[in-house]
Amino acid sequence: MRILGLETSCDDTGAAVIEDGRLLSNIVAAQLEHSQYGGVVPEIASRLHELNIYRTAGEALVAAAIDRQDLDGVAVTYGPGLAGALMVGLNFAKGLAQSLDIPFVGVDHMEGHLWANFLSSPEQLDDRPFLCLLVSGGHTHIWRVDGTGNYALIGATVDDAAGEAFDKGARLLGLSYPGGPAIQKTATGMDSTVVKFPRPFVGTEHCNFSFSGLKTALYYYMQKLTDQLSSEQLGEIAAGYQAAIIDCLMDRLHQAVKLTGLKRVFIAGGVSANQHLRNRMDDWSANTDISCAYPPLEYCTDNAAMIALAGYQRIMAGQNDSLSLDINPNLRLDKIAQD
Ligand code: KG4
Ligand code: ZN
Repeated sequence: MRILGLETSCDDTGAAVIEDGRLLSNIVAAQLEHSQYGGVVPEIASRLHELNIYRTAGEALVAAAIDRQDLDGVAVTYGPGLAGALMVGLNFAKGLAQSLDIPFVGVDHMEGHLWANFLSSPEQLDDRPFLCLLVSGGHTHIWRVDGTGNYALIGATVDDAAGEAFDKGARLLGLSYPGGPAIQKTATGMDSTVVKFPRPFVGTEHCNFSFSGLKTALYYYMQKLTDQLSSEQLGEIAAGYQAAIIDCLMDRLHQAVKLTGLKRVFIAGGVSANQHLRNRMDDWSANTDISCAYPPLEYCTDNAAMIALAGYQRIMAGQNDSLSLDINPNLRLDKIAQD
């Protein structure tokens, strides 16, 4: 079974082909235009998706060495995300599925991230249950996954997402967007113990997160500075801030393992690209009987391969959608899981 996956929820136009759970191609047309504005501009995003989607989908078919007639289904992100951007992908997917008379399925973007860990190991797709920390620009969740569509929320942020903490922190530090990679780069090789930031909720019984206080602490720290920052000071602040975010993520994940007794743990979403977080996962795996894993870097940030894989599983489970499915910019995976 060959599925074309499409992803246009934010600022990357993605198209990918999965064959029987194995990835054949994965094309991402990144929209670099947004970096000059310090964040994603919705109108520009939808216009560029519109310009790129046809070519990107075509490139995914060529790279997979198949024709559109070889497709058995189309999977597309229908939320959460930017309304105009989602609409471009959804309408394109519907048109394609209709014209080829093949199954069509809408995928929650976060559900896509959840399965990204299996793009490089599809043979493990049926090894469940497991825990997954989903950390992106808008979400910070810990999920227990028992099967396709069978997800239980174990913990979530009560305010900002971890990616948001990186992005807002970077802005306060005068670094570029997206903030995660910029903070990671500035913090690399720097002492993270010189500047200390709070670690909200660490040591508590529940598995929730809170990052807004951390961002406020950085704001006040920067306000108090009177002299021009040296690059070493900037690096130490970035390293301290990054360490605080990662400590919170790891502590809550440890707590989730303690509460659920599960020993397979994954991370996914843009923040799972963070090298400091990946190192901590490696250490955890090496020193305990917990098996920790993370996706290859290209599957951490937004891509259509993860949408194709999630869609493939839904189509295999007979969970197709009707062509009347609409976008849902505020889609919530915990709501889908309850339905
Ligand atoms: O999953 P994603 O690409 O898009 C959303 O679905 O939101 O995640 C984007 C987020 C941004 O907040 C970005 O700063 C963060 O992922 N990010 C990182 C790194 N790379 C991307 N955060 C920390 N370290 C990184 N290396
Ligand atoms: Zn994402």
